[in-house]
Amino acid sequence: MIKTNERTFLLSTKETALLLRVNEADKLVCDHYGRLIDEGDLKSCAVPTGMPTGRTIIYDEKKSAKLALPLMQSEFSTPFKSDDLSPMIELYAEKGRVFDFIYDSYEIRDFVPMEGYPNPHGADQELVIKCKDEKMGAELHLHYVVFEDSDVIGKFIRIVNVGEEDIELRRAYSSQFSLQNEGYIIHGSFGNWAGEFQRNETKIGHFRYEFGSDSGSSGDQHNPFFMLKRPDTSLHTGIAYGFNLIYSGSHRVCVEMEPYGMIRVQQGISPSGFEKVLHKGESFLTPMAVLTFTHHGLNGVSHHMHDFVNKHIIPEQFAYKPRPIAFNNWEGTYAKFTEGKLKSLAKKAADLGCELFVLDDGWFGHRDDDASSLGDWTVYKKKLPHGIEGIADYVHKLGLKFGLWFEPEMISPDSELMKAHPEWAVTDGIHEPSLGRNQLLIDLTKAEVRDYLFECLDTHLKTGVIDFIKWDYNRTFSDLPRNGAFCHDYILGLYDLVGRITKAYPNVLFENCASGGGRNDLGMFCYFPQGWVSDDTDALERCKIQTEMAFGYPPSVMSNHVSAKTNHQMLRKTGFGTKFDIACMGILGYEMDVNDLDSVDEKAIKEQIEFYKENRNTLQFGTYMLLDTFDHDRQIVEMADGECALVTYVNYVQTPHSGNERLPVTGLIPDATYEYSVRKEVHSLKTFGSLVNQQTPFHVKEEGAIVNFLSRRMSLDAEALHGEAKGATLNAGGLQIGRQWTGTGYDDTTRILLDFGARIYIFKVKK
Ligand code: GLA
Repeated sequence: MIKTNERTFLLSTKETALLLRVNEADKLVCDHYGRLIDEGDLKSCAVPTGMPTGRTIIYDEKKSAKLALPLMQSEFSTPFKSDDLSPMIELYAEKGRVFDFIYDSYEIRDFVPMEGYPNPHGADQELVIKCKDEKMGAELHLHYVVFEDSDVIGKFIRIVNVGEEDIELRRAYSSQFSLQNEGYIIHGSFGNWAGEFQRNETKIGHFRYEFGSDSGSSGDQHNPFFMLKRPDTSLHTGIAYGFNLIYSGSHRVCVEMEPYGMIRVQQGISPSGFEKVLHKGESFLTPMAVLTFTHHGLNGVSHHMHDFVNKHIIPEQFAYKPRPIAFNNWEGTYAKFTEGKLKSLAKKAADLGCELFVLDDGWFGHRDDDASSLGDWTVYKKKLPHGIEGIADYVHKLGLKFGLWFEPEMISPDSELMKAHPEWAVTDGIHEPSLGRNQLLIDLTKAEVRDYLFECLDTHLKTGVIDFIKWDYNRTFSDLPRNGAFCHDYILGLYDLVGRITKAYPNVLFENCASGGGRNDLGMFCYFPQGWVSDDTDALERCKIQTEMAFGYPPSVMSNHVSAKTNHQMLRKTGFGTKFDIACMGILGYEMDVNDLDSVDEKAIKEQIEFYKENRNTLQFGTYMLLDTFDHDRQIVEMADGECALVTYVNYVQTPHSGNERLPVTGLIPDATYEYSVRKEVHSLKTFGSLVNQQTPFHVKEEGAIVNFLSRRMSLDAEALHGEAKGATLNAGGLQIGRQWTGTGYDDTTRILLDFGARIYIFKVKK
């Protein structure tokens, strides 16, 4: 809800309030962004002006003898008029470079979708504040969009050239927000291929902090999502702010503390390589920044962000719709497959209970490895003699949906497309372009390129046999052409293409991928409801990545696959039980040669899939709570949905003296009686090494033929646990769980987790 008394604007959501004010100098400032406030008390929130000190430059003596630009909690800033902090907007005209915008008018209206950008849906109201610099012929419109139910405020700006002269735009962030320092810490992420979303924290001091991406895409180096938290903020309590950007290109965050302790936070398109000339009458619109506040700790931020993504970002037709369990052939075969091999994998995937078969890279052109054929989106007949329709029909007859991999934004030097259209590859026209994974970007700023790619996708989609597309993007930008804002124009071209194709095929489910999680951002999720989280399918690494990502993105967008026991990225060996327990916190899939499974593993995977189907709603759309972290040698996550709560416990490394442990549980219905249990898991005989000799009548060798033979056929049941208790009791005291294995004896209550092992504890209301 937005309320105004002409010079103050109070934007309230369910639990938060943003208070803006036009001050005595006609500048727009932020007096409060935090918990709800009473609309009768706005004066008491006004940030005092104070007496200017020493050599302070007074902004406008006539309006106020006290007000100085760098001390205002200003909602925007421009350089060269005494505000020496990082500017939000940088403009140049022939006649000058001081742009001094002052308040002109406001409008409160229904949200008007932003042209050219992905738009969140279901917004409540929009406030537009117009500021002008008449002398320079420029207007600045500041937009505020309220998402009441998710406690989110969207912010973006428009710069308009209303004069005669050209205006050059060199920087235009989407949001500037100021707050007073209370020991804030930036909590964001850093990363790389196969190591996205690594935790990254720093206490804000008197420096300028800048992070983001200049790679052309939102990137795995620094996702646009980050938080500011106070030193006393925990997972469950305390003040935290969450920030994100609905944008998929190069982006930047700038956080700066000025000498007296005010912190300025800016988010938006990266100014590096960004130049736009606005001719008379033209305007520039920035993407939307997303802000939230909570006093319920870091879980509070994730609740707001999860709600926002599920309700307002994911295309409406997919909101809260169950996502299928995929089988993907990539780590099972890579590009080395035949039609027969794919059929045998699909058959086994169907037997196991999977619901979607995804044919990954290697089905087109003459692609046997990553050195050729991107751009030639015609079937590779040597591998698939009956075409895509042949394999898709086979898959459909098994009762599975059919999915296909594409990487439309790329062109291989070794391709028919390159022979026909070398000018479509992104180069500066001067240097030999640098290759990434043997490929070049294709220039999406060109309408004819987008039309060609639309046609390629449309040709396959209109056959009606494709239910799912994995849209990949496996290199970042280099050799940029000179024109002003190439990276930004490319992203607008991408939005045009994905917008057209998803509009033409609204029921095809798209999965976003960029060598794993290299472009998982709110912009892409506006078109593609889910994203491949990382090319790292190792259970422990994946657990860390998923957990950090979950502060800003819900499990319903995270596609996670169980892969072979010996992980291909880490060569770490992990049992399928643990792999499942971690992969199922999101959208489950399998990615390995399932024909190699022995009967023990096959049975275990069938049970996993049954368990997932029974609990899918909770695992994809339940309330996510991070209850403990590896800082305490165990990570505990709860996913709860009304009458069911699933608590995943992931061990860090095994220690010999683990004590009694309490499993925290939260949010259960106090009066209801819950039955609790643990998801059935088994131990391989091999777990016990040569200790098996204590139970066998004859000597067997560790890893010897007898143990190998037996362990393919039999296993030991792990940790039994059953009981019931009231929700109130469990909320208060958690659940006592047994000690871990300490090397002395085994019965069915012993918890053997090993290094990085996991369990799921189940709480269901008794019927
Ligand atoms: C990227 C993706 C993988 C797979 C390969 C295929 O690395 O992240 O999942 O699709 O491309 O080349």
